Amino acid sequence: MSDTILILGACGQIGTELTLKLRKLYGNTAIIASDIREGNTELMQSGPFEILDATNKEKIVEVIEKYAISEVYLMAAMLSVTAEKYPQKAWNLNINSLLHVLDLAKDKLIKKVFWPSSIAVFGTTTPKQHTPQITVTEPTTVYGISKLAGERWCAYYKSNYGVDVRSVRYPGIISWKTNPGGGTTDYAVEIYHKAITDKFYNCFLTENTRLPMMYMDDAIRATIAMMQATLPIHFFSYNIAAIDFTPKEITAAIQKRVPGFKVAYSPDFRQQIADSWPQSIDDTQAKKDWNWQYEFDLEKMTDVMLNSLKKKYNS
Ligand code: SER
Repeated sequence: MSDTILILGACGQIGTELTLKLRKLYGNTAIIASDIREGNTELMQSGPFEILDATNKEKIVEVIEKYAISEVYLMAAMLSVTAEKYPQKAWNLNINSLLHVLDLAKDKLIKKVFWPSSIAVFGTTTPKQHTPQITVTEPTTVYGISKLAGERWCAYYKSNYGVDVRSVRYPGIISWKTNPGGGTTDYAVEIYHKAITDKFYNCFLTENTRLPMMYMDDAIRATIAMMQATLPIHFFSYNIAAIDFTPKEITAAIQKRVPGFKVAYSPDFRQQIADSWPQSIDDTQAKKDWNWQYEFDLEKMTDVMLNSLKKKYNS
């Protein structure tokens, strides 16, 4: 492959593993990682890195020209919990970065864009089970509002300017390499860490709060498949589904492997965010258009999470 790819927000939870996977696939020097701060050693040592603020259009242009970039993955974003604390900062980061990148694609500086949306585009008025691709979208969080607006901007640039922009609506993403930050679904990562370090976790959601989730490897596969697919003309930020579970169910899966693990429940303001989101997702459109299929169920993911984290804490 001769295309050079820029990842904005490469040091975040998804950005880190996406960068490493793309480097494996296309070669280290073809993938330029960038973020406002440095990332983990593996990421920093495996290929080129630039300090880059995703809201700084001039600097993005400089990096695009320096490396003759043709594709951009815009992974920089402020997630749901942090965005409630800093609404304007969240809007600025989540939307202005996208408009910059879409404009660069419109002006033909780059050929292709990936931009992640989220289950947060849905709200309390959306059907909660098997939430369809096209349905009511009345998000009640700052994060959800920014993701929904972003989806509409992507659709607008695609239909009016022919920009090749691709997108999926990620559910909560679970991984062990890099921690998530500022999200409502983060409990499902923290719980694995605490199972190993403390054998106790105080969960900020109620035991029966069901949310759609996905193991990182599936999320990365979906992202890359989406960028490689031949898609219909119509823009979709595709629903992608994998697993859904409650804190009680993930606890039971961990307890089978970590005897004596205990969980207490102290729901806080994050409960309201979780309650506004779907419980499960219908991804028929993604299956039909680009053969999406997840691989990791709760049991398989729990095995990998606990084994990998045990090794990490022991080393
Ligand atoms: N994981 C995100 C959050 O909790 C949802 O897209 O904010």
